[in-house]
Amino acid sequence: MTKNLILGLLSLFLFSCQKNSTSVKSDSEDFRPEYHFTPNKNWVNDPNGLFYYEGKYHMYFQHYPKGNVWGPMHWGHATSYDLINWNEEKIALYPDESGYIFSGSIVVDSNNSSGLAKDDQIPIIAIYTNHDPKGENNEALQSETQHLAYSLDSGYTWTKYTANPIITNPGINDFRDPKVIWDDDNNKWVLVVAASQEVFMYESSDLKDWKFISKFGESYGNHDGVWECPDLMKLPVTDEDQAKWVLTVSINPGGPNGGSATQYFIGDFDGTNFTIDENFAKEITSNNTFWLDFGKDNYASVSFDSARKSDGSKIMVGWMSNWEYATKVPTTTWRNGMTFPREVKLKKTDNSYRLISNPVRDLNLARSKKIEGSNLKISTENKTIVESQIIGLNSTEVNIQLAINDGEKYTFSLSNDINEKIVFGYDDLTKQFFIDRSKSGIIDFSETFANKVFYAPRTSKNEILHIKALIDRASIELFYDEGETVMTELFFSTQKFNSLKVKTEYRDANLDKVEIHEIKSN
Ligand code: FRU
Repeated sequence: MTKNLILGLLSLFLFSCQKNSTSVKSDSEDFRPEYHFTPNKNWVNDPNGLFYYEGKYHMYFQHYPKGNVWGPMHWGHATSYDLINWNEEKIALYPDESGYIFSGSIVVDSNNSSGLAKDDQIPIIAIYTNHDPKGENNEALQSETQHLAYSLDSGYTWTKYTANPIITNPGINDFRDPKVIWDDDNNKWVLVVAASQEVFMYESSDLKDWKFISKFGESYGNHDGVWECPDLMKLPVTDEDQAKWVLTVSINPGGPNGGSATQYFIGDFDGTNFTIDENFAKEITSNNTFWLDFGKDNYASVSFDSARKSDGSKIMVGWMSNWEYATKVPTTTWRNGMTFPREVKLKKTDNSYRLISNPVRDLNLARSKKIEGSNLKISTENKTIVESQIIGLNSTEVNIQLAINDGEKYTFSLSNDINEKIVFGYDDLTKQFFIDRSKSGIIDFSETFANKVFYAPRTSKNEILHIKALIDRASIELFYDEGETVMTELFFSTQKFNSLKVKTEYRDANLDKVEIHEIKSN
């Protein structure tokens, strides 16, 4: 039963009692999160083919079911009613003699535009990259083509289309990760696919015959690595009677803090061309790139098909890892999982736009115990906000609101009894968010996992800072400024974290509001 413990102000801070931490062996199962998707066994990377149908969310994923490192790719499959509890289903697509099943997307073909329906069963259409491994040693083979498979039982079993490929290779080795959307304004299917360091766009009326219409990217954004996993979305602008188009593209390497990450562009799509918004274009020139997430561990994020939100927002899920070290993270029975699903929409700034991401509101249903306080005095000495005797910190949502003192630095630390810790916060002098996992426990599996402090620039001008942190055993997802800047990071502490502390750098200050919820899955 949900238990609300409303604690008064200072009692939160002054509370101190015997430490009673649960010491755990650091084996794989100890790192299993409570409310994030991880595979039962073995390797996963990108989320694929996200769609919502008949009350269920379906998620497929790049999967190697025979080992805990990347191998011949299959599409694993999981379903959920609430985006929190996931049930792993049978493997959906197996590699065959023509190649591995790389990333791709799914649409619900409600009007049977593909003509693949049978016995009134709505076809669910998957379009993915067939990757012929022979091309890995012979670039001339240009071995990536786009294939179609369909399901007539709501996404559980699949038939590969006999006339594959549906899009042949245009002479580019890296030509993958098709994302299909229904363009309601122009009444047609549109497909975006990564082609080296650009995004190619195609159109179709039947999901089988595709015509090239345009490309985007040559002079925009980051080009330090190969572009992968694009998505094209029409999103509402909060508090404005308009919508704009967003193109997201993952890149590896080239991320803001090293390795893989996802950049985004805001503009318009007229049914043929994606044109970047003029003011947004000026901003990316001066800021270099806008990132969906500045943390190291959110890659290949894509959105759900048919999960229509009443406000037009979309739900995105990313792979919670980084190609720099994904095959080496210290889990063994399973390797890597997904970010918590996020609702994305746009916000208007003075003369441009920002993409806003926040945890899907379904999270509220998984809240269990709660504590809250207001006007909490803090200083340059570390002060405990809360310890795990009061509320579990292992699987938690933390919400903090504070009025920023000019030039102040706010440092939060999540720690355990052997002083392993994750340190994060905001420095108003440099106008940067930061996170440091160099003392977070096991870090020596990779030279770049915790070699430095990771930063994200603050773009909001709000004098109030909102921080939302989702903590789930081995990950923290930080949503600053109501989702304007996000940082997602993994960590592998050898004991669970059981204390959250805060300090300032220069003067006494206040946390105006603190609200902490324990999160429980079923
Ligand atoms: C991105 C990616 C995709 C590719 C898949 C292979 O992480 O490299 O471009 O389709 O992973 O597993």
